[in-house]
Amino acid sequence: MLNIVLFGPPGSGKGTQAENIISKYHLVHLSTGDMLRAEIAAQTKLGMEAKKLMDKGELVPDSVVVGMIENKLDANPSAAGFVFDGFPRTVKQAEALDELLERHKAPIKAVLSLHVSEDELTRRILRRGATSGRADDQNETIVKNRVLEYRTKTEPLAKYYSGQAKLREVTGERAVEEVFTSLCQEIDKVLASNSR
Ligand code: AP5
Repeated sequence: MLNIVLFGPPGSGKGTQAENIISKYHLVHLSTGDMLRAEIAAQTKLGMEAKKLMDKGELVPDSVVVGMIENKLDANPSAAGFVFDGFPRTVKQAEALDELLERHKAPIKAVLSLHVSEDELTRRILRRGATSGRADDQNETIVKNRVLEYRTKTEPLAKYYSGQAKLREVTGERAVEEVFTSLCQEIDKVLASNSR
C-alpha cells in the first residue's frame, strides 16, 4: 500500500498536486479541508462548529479530523493507498495517524514537503480568494493567521517525520508541472526502494 503525506503551508500546492498524484498512482485523496467544507455545505453541527474556527484561520480540534480520517480509511478497504492532504497538522494527529495505519498494517511511506515563500503563499491564496468563495481566502490578516498556525503547530511535524526518515523536501515555487515531476521522482524512489 502506498500512503503519502503531502506536507506544506497553506497555498503551497498540496491540493493541486494531490489531484495529479492520485490520478497517476491510482490512490485515494483524503483532504481534511475538503471534508470539513463538505460538512459546512451540508450544514451539519460539526460543520457549523468547524466554520467558526476555519473562518478565522485556526485549526479545528484534533479529535474531529482524526475521526473523519478514521471513517474514510474504514470506508476504502481496497484502496491501493492514500494521499493525505492537510492532515496531519499537529503532532497529536500524526501519532493518531500512525496508530490507525498500524491497524491497517500500512504505514506512511513518504512525507513530501513543499517549500514556498510566504509572499508567494499570500499572493496565491488572495488570488484564489477572488473566486473561491472561501472565507479564509479573503483577507491578508486571516491568511497570515493560517500561516502562523502552520508555523507554530504543523511545522514541528517535519522533525517528527525526519526522525522516521520519511521526510522528502521539494521546491514548490515553480510551475505546477515541474513540481509534479519532482514529486513523482521522490515517489518513484520510494517505490523502487520498497521493491528491493
Ligand atoms: P485546507 O483546506 O487544508 O487549506 P490549507 O492547508 O490552508 O491549504 P490550501 O487549500 O489553501 O492550500 P494547498 O496547499 O492545498 O494549495 P492549493 O493546491 O489549494 O484547510 C482549511 C482549514 O480547515 C484550516 O485552516 C483549518 O481550519 C481546517 N483544517 C483542515 N485540516 C485540518 C486538520 N488536519 N487539523 C485541523 N484543522 C484542519 O493551491 C493554492 C492556490 O495556489 C490555488 O489557487 C492553486 O491553483 C495555486 N497554485 C498551486 N500550485 C501552484 C504553482 N505551482 N504555481 C502557482 N500557483 C499555484
